[in-house]
Amino acid sequence: NVYADAESASKKVAQDIADLIRSKAEKGENAVLGLATGSSPLKVYAELVRMHKEEGLSFKNVITFNLDEYYPMDPSSEHSYVYFMKKNLFDHVDINMENVNIPSGTIRRKEIEEYCATYEAKIKLHGGVDLQLLGIGRTGHIGFNEPPSNEKTLTRMVTLDPITRKDAAPGFGGLENVPTEAVTMGVGSILNAKKVIMMAWGESKAAIVNEMMNGEVSGQVPATYLQLHNNVAVFLDEGAAKEL
Ligand code: GLP
Repeated sequence: NVYADAESASKKVAQDIADLIRSKAEKGENAVLGLATGSSPLKVYAELVRMHKEEGLSFKNVITFNLDEYYPMDPSSEHSYVYFMKKNLFDHVDINMENVNIPSGTIRRKEIEEYCATYEAKIKLHGGVDLQLLGIGRTGHIGFNEPPSNEKTLTRMVTLDPITRKDAAPGFGGLENVPTEAVTMGVGSILNAKKVIMMAWGESKAAIVNEMMNGEVSGQVPATYLQLHNNVAVFLDEGAAKEL
């Protein structure tokens, strides 16, 4: 789906999410959303907040699982994905915070493996992710699944690619402040979602978007595994679609 700009594309994505939430609510069911951070989903979250305020879209039946978090990371830090999600979505809608799940950046190192297994189990317990939102990193990462990450990977601790850390540096006030590790849902966890929506805006994403859609499926570009999923929608603006 190629749109003139990120704004119009994001409105359509938000509409799809709202439709899912409402149709689940009508059946008395929960909508399980897989959420992403970064700049790509920002306009979607802004539109969802607007729909909550102006159209009465309720998040009471929404359960969320975020993809990832830096490690170590204090949830109260302005650099945390907890802070990001509250600022851009959760603080402005009627979601029950007990239904919000974000990988912890404060878990003790020796407890990480068990923690990640519990995160996976919790997703399963809720019947799996109905709709997974994704952005793409310049390394071809989805979540923080840096190359090489294969289709079997589940929630785990990873080391960040130098390119990813460099891209994050301005927000952290310098490369030396960017964590070297993260906890992320795996490529396999992402592929388990019933539907995936990938968003990319701007020419800086054009090369990796082309690689994701037309390149050989390989752990060297983790996003290529989306080619194996049977229900993926890719939303692009004209810049990001330039090399297709
Ligand atoms: C970070 C996030 C990813 C995100 C990527 C792209 O690495 N962990 O989930 O997709 O950045 O960010 P942006 O959307 O700002 O381009």
